[in-house]
Amino acid sequence: PRVAIVFGGRSSEHAISVSTAGSVLKAIDRSKYDVLPIGITHEGRWALVSDEPARMGITDGKLPDVAQIAESTEGQVALPGSPGNREVVWNEPGAAPKVLGEVDVVLPLLHGPWGEDGTIQGLLELSGVPYVGSGVLASAVGMDKEFTKRILESHGIGVGSYTVIKPREWETEAGRAAARERIAGLGLPVFVKPCRAGSSIGISKVKDVADLDGAIDEARRHDPKVIVEAGLEGREIECAVLDFEDGPRASVPAEILVGGGYEFYDFEAKYIDSSEVRIPAELTDGETAEIRRQAVAAFEALGCEGLARVDFFLLTDGRWVVNEINTMPGFTPISAYPKMWEATGLPYTELIDRLLQAALR
Ligand code: DAL
Ligand code: MG
Repeated sequence: PRVAIVFGGRSSEHAISVSTAGSVLKAIDRSKYDVLPIGITHEGRWALVSDEPARMGITDGKLPDVAQIAESTEGQVALPGSPGNREVVWNEPGAAPKVLGEVDVVLPLLHGPWGEDGTIQGLLELSGVPYVGSGVLASAVGMDKEFTKRILESHGIGVGSYTVIKPREWETEAGRAAARERIAGLGLPVFVKPCRAGSSIGISKVKDVADLDGAIDEARRHDPKVIVEAGLEGREIECAVLDFEDGPRASVPAEILVGGGYEFYDFEAKYIDSSEVRIPAELTDGETAEIRRQAVAAFEALGCEGLARVDFFLLTDGRWVVNEINTMPGFTPISAYPKMWEATGLPYTELIDRLLQAALR
């Protein structure tokens, strides 16, 4: 089958998506799949890119970019008609290339808005092209930290305390006062986050009320809708979920051990310093069974398909809460999702194969 691997994109997680794609391009079974790597630039232009995983990683703190690996940045485009045609095609920003109609399946390895949030899924639904992963609704809900929590709560799955600052609320003095009052009810510290973003971009941990407004303004640079969450005391444990023929199953869990000097698992701790991920997490059998059960329950509550990584806190009082769910988790060399499956007995190449086969069914 012919697979379009789509990555990069307009979100702030562009570089992580490129690194994710580099890892997948390395692992995919070339004897079985004819691969077409398609990058989307920061501006939203789609381009064929050179299939060179080595240039797509995060090295020495330098982040990769689609524009650097596109085969040319020249002009408008004759769309490629065959896998051998490496002619570069630049579309107008936002326009999808016709090439998508000529592939059997799309692997949308995009993180964040305009990719992980139901938008490309909608485009592919309209185009009638099968794709890997969740559909429009689950992708959109999973991208939005408020709606994720609302759906999970309604299914009896634990979430932390939070409040949402709607886009217009922060624009009036009365709105700000009301938001500050709700936030005060959460205690300190709080985490201030863009409601729809990933890889910890735009997130601040606020320990002093004096820093609150600055943190909200920073989050609003990424999303006009902001979520403020109460700080949680406990361990950060993740679990990978994958659809099998008989339904979704959860992997062995991983524990995130944030390196010294970091207040929380921020972008740098994640991707530049490579905090340690312990797989399997050191948990009792009962705890492991419980997180696996809850990870599948969260996947089903949101109506996810294909794959998701569910991120939990095991609170010091023994309760589990879901922090968030990622419908297209990272597949970078240091990402936990493929490692959790390796540790569960499913090697990387087989994992990719399973994802593609499920989409092709
Ligand atoms: N949002 C990043 C890619 C992740 O969850 O792995
Ligand atoms: Mg995330």
